[in-house]
Amino acid sequence: MANTILVGAQWGDEGKGKIIDFLTEHADIVVRSQGGNNAGHTVILGEKKYVLHLIPSGILRPKKVCVIGNGVVIDPVSLVGEIETLKGQGVRIGKGQLLISDAAHLVFPYHRKLDELREMRKGRDKIGTTKRGIGPAYGDKAARTGLRMCDLVQPEIFKEKLRAKIKENNAILKALGAAGVSFKEVHDAYMGAAEKLRPFVTNTVVYLHEALKAGRDILFEGAQGTFLDIDHGTYPYVTSSNTTAGGACTGSGVPPHRMDRVIGVMKAYTTRVGEGPFPTEDAVIGDMLHGMGREFGATTGRARRCGWFDAVATRYAAMINGIDEVAVTNLDGLDGLDWIKVCTHYKAGRKKIEVPPADCQHLGDCEPVYV
Ligand code: IMO
Ligand code: MG
Repeated sequence: MANTILVGAQWGDEGKGKIIDFLTEHADIVVRSQGGNNAGHTVILGEKKYVLHLIPSGILRPKKVCVIGNGVVIDPVSLVGEIETLKGQGVRIGKGQLLISDAAHLVFPYHRKLDELREMRKGRDKIGTTKRGIGPAYGDKAARTGLRMCDLVQPEIFKEKLRAKIKENNAILKALGAAGVSFKEVHDAYMGAAEKLRPFVTNTVVYLHEALKAGRDILFEGAQGTFLDIDHGTYPYVTSSNTTAGGACTGSGVPPHRMDRVIGVMKAYTTRVGEGPFPTEDAVIGDMLHGMGREFGATTGRARRCGWFDAVATRYAAMINGIDEVAVTNLDGLDGLDWIKVCTHYKAGRKKIEVPPADCQHLGDCEPVYV
């Protein structure tokens, strides 16, 4: 199958889980390279429904190796919870089947608290995050003050670093009028998780390069979508990682020239959870889809905002990601309609607009033009 990058071409929730599961049959290794447990990938296999947040969906198929790469941010307690839920559903997760990068950054309870507080303080301008602490965790990574998986598995070093981080963050939380977090509680919970995760933690870059040498096929499972990308998305209404194809390289250590193809997943319509501009948003199609029980978030249960297919956005996504092949999902959601609308360009005043403007205010002012 060669090495394949799969990306979301819209605002996330494009049905990536289903396509990844389909492609996994032909892959040896499935890699997550960015994001965290803000992702929610639903896969239905036979009678059973699985929801994955951090673990690549390849885990549902025996003999596939799953890698959580260096670009992912990991909440270790929630990762252990996910492993246990899957085991409870009968999924085998042995050593050698799941590999976790020792360079991946960690998400802590103070990240989640800060995420929530920042959203609250923004009021009407809030981003509508998943409140999983993703933004603050990537913030620490960029500020070079984060703790990583390699710290977590070294108890003495971890203890000292955690103590300093909690002291710093409790001062910030206090300044924002919130209660701090308890060092002991966090330390105990994270040490418990460390014991369970230690067997999986390794240098995943070396593992992936050995796999490349051996000619094994790797599938890079994108989370979120192109317009949630920190660089190319509808900033600031984005997530904090590179959700576009380039993120698969930086987030895994596999070089660009080893990637063979890029598949873009898009719905036959558009959805978005959280705030931010959405030119083709349409209440009628939203009511219809929600009435069918469709379009409720896998991570937060929120009703997703819905609208018509936006070819301006997806054309731009095809360009940024270098999309070679497209998978269109959820066509059946539109079965009951005689006509569907497709937005071919936007209009702002008299101006024809064929590329999404960088300024999200300008994007919000764009009117969709349909065929
Ligand atoms: P999957 O992988 C859809 C959105 C949030 C919010 C913004 C920032 O299932 O497609 P964050 O918690 O990341 O700081 O929130 O990004 N968001 C997603 N929307 N699908 C996702 O993942 C998302 N992950 C984050 O709703 O608007
Ligand atoms: Mg999802």
